[in-house]
Amino acid sequence: MKKMGSNLRRFGKSMIPAMAVMVLGWGSAAMSAPPQIFDLERFIDPDTCAGCHGDIFEQWSNSMHNLSHKDPVYAQVAAFLRQGLTDQDEIDEAESCVKCHTPVGVVTGFPGKLSDDLSKTPEIATKGIQCDYCHSAVKVTQMYNNGLFLEPGFGEDDPGVKYGPFDDAEPDFHDAAYSALHESADICGTCHDVKHVSFGTDLETTYTEWKNSPYNAENPDERITCQGCHMYQRPGVPATGMTERPQNPGAAADYSKERPHIFTHYFVGANSGVPADFGDPEKADMAVARLQHAAELALDLSGLEKKQLGITVSNTGAGHSLPTGVGDLRQVWLEVTVEDKEGNKIFETGFMDDKKELPENTLMFKTVFGDGKGNPVINLARAREILRDNRIPAKGRAKEVITLDRVLEKESRIMVRLLYRGMPQKILNLLPGGGMAPLPVVEMARISHTL
Ligand code: HEC
Ligand code: HEC
Ligand code: HEC
Ligand code: HEC
Ligand code: HEC
Repeated sequence: MKKMGSNLRRFGKSMIPAMAVMVLGWGSAAMSAPPQIFDLERFIDPDTCAGCHGDIFEQWSNSMHNLSHKDPVYAQVAAFLRQGLTDQDEIDEAESCVKCHTPVGVVTGFPGKLSDDLSKTPEIATKGIQCDYCHSAVKVTQMYNNGLFLEPGFGEDDPGVKYGPFDDAEPDFHDAAYSALHESADICGTCHDVKHVSFGTDLETTYTEWKNSPYNAENPDERITCQGCHMYQRPGVPATGMTERPQNPGAAADYSKERPHIFTHYFVGANSGVPADFGDPEKADMAVARLQHAAELALDLSGLEKKQLGITVSNTGAGHSLPTGVGDLRQVWLEVTVEDKEGNKIFETGFMDDKKELPENTLMFKTVFGDGKGNPVINLARAREILRDNRIPAKGRAKEVITLDRVLEKESRIMVRLLYRGMPQKILNLLPGGGMAPLPVVEMARISHTL
């Protein structure tokens, strides 16, 4: 009975007998559709799509979608999390990564779990979240843990229908059809909301954050979907909530007709380190540009008489919390320096030590998971609760107040920077094989003031 109870608690499992579900009163939200399994041959390699969609292919190459399986940061974190677990519920979570990071493998039968011999992953599946995967999607069965439901064609001889934003496309290689799903945030959200498969803990909530934000407006003039920012970005056009998001006129395929907007496929977020490692400085620069158009800083000097310095961080550019995604790993923090008129430091916080680690008292915006008894956990497979989440919501702001040890004299100087990095060095040091090199630190915003 205990065994069954724990199975029922497991999200993403489909083997639950319908009767048991009814008796225990479980709603359909906790269940998922039966897993889809297709012959590998049904999926067409992105290289083939590149034959006609050359620009889109170049944009997608070395994107985090293309690299989702090969990404060494992901692969090493996944291997680290899997180590030493004995609780079956925790093991199930640690095994689940491939469902989003290697999705073509999962829907064609291999790998089924993280501990499978990933060196045997079929070549096409190592290419991550790819053209034929997204463009075969016809509906979403659940809005978390990748509920995409696919209707792929039968390989290059019979490529089937590719679903997209046009209702008048007439390519000869494949059929084409208009799909409202592709214009909706749902196609992104089903993978960008991640729940612990056993405990249901919200591990990533990018879609929910967006859904609850002012960007999810009824009025079409105010509404901005994921695509409205992330599929408008291109070099020189960061396309965030605080910039213009001009259309990108052009052709969707070589020799096809000119259209007012072609959705770009760079899928740039905040990750500059991994694309740079794969030799793509352009995508790294685009991630930096995105981060530099995400937030604004302001100082509140009204409390200085009472030795209080206020700093406000406003999320003016992101359509979700800042940071989002793996909010337990991402670091967004304030680096603050106060100098007297002679230039002597009288206060500082947020500076890294020689080991690239940040002091405990750093003013940081992030999520902290707990073990269910109030103790913080690093391993998200053990995450039974959220202990803290002080990330900054879309169009929201956070105010931090620093207490100084004196009233500042005239000509004192205050300098504040908002910084981002993908992961703390402490975690990188724990990874298998002796740890990983530091990830880049990006300055998102800065402000200074001389009294
Ligand atoms: C993560 C899912 C995803 C992946 C991967 C992806 N696409 Fe798309 N693609 C979309 C979405 C979503 C749209 C439409 C956006 C909208 O209408 O809001 C789109 C639009 C298109 C269009 C219509 C023209 C345009 O860009 O507006 C073409 C053609 C296309 N994609 C081809 C490709 C090719 C080729 C690849 C691989 C190199 C690819 N896509 C990879 C999701 C994806
Ligand atoms: C032989 C050339 C060719 C190849 C190869 C090709 N396409 Fe296309 N595709 C086109 C043309 C032409 C269009 C129509 C463009 C237009 O009308 O603006 C198109 C349109 C699309 C659209 C938009 C459909 C719509 O109705 O919105 C998608 C999505 C798409 N292709 C995906 C793919 C994918 C995925 C692959 C690889 C599996 C691929 N294409 C391979 C030529 C090709
Ligand atoms: C109003 C523009 C806007 C919209 C809408 C938007 N984003 Fe973002 N996104 C940004 C900006 C700016 C950043 C960089 C700052 C950050 O990391 O949050 C970003 C970063 C990201 C990141 C990287 C986060 C990290 O720190 O690792 C992901 C993943 C992402 N967005 C996915 C999405 C998805 C999925 C949606 C829709 C549910 C979406 N975004 C909607 C602007 C937007
Ligand atoms: C099949 C699941 C899946 C779908 C569908 C999907 N994503 Fe992603 N996305 C991922 C995964 C997994 C990663 C992270 C890969 C990594 O970092 O190793 C990612 C990464 C990203 C990033 C880069 C994050 C960073 O830190 O730089 C952005 C931006 C993004 N996705 C936006 C989108 C948008 C917009 C859509 C919808 C058009 C979408 N995604 C659809 C799974 C998905
Ligand atoms: C439901 C889909 C989904 C599942 C399952 C999933 N991820 Fe992810 N993962 C994502 C998305 C989406 C992102 C991008 C968010 C961001 O950039 O912050 C991501 C990003 C990451 C990153 C950041 C990579 C980088 O280069 O910074 C790591 C690490 C990661 N995932 C580890 C894992 C591990 C380990 C597992 C299994 C225990 C896992 N993921 C399961 C969707 C998923």
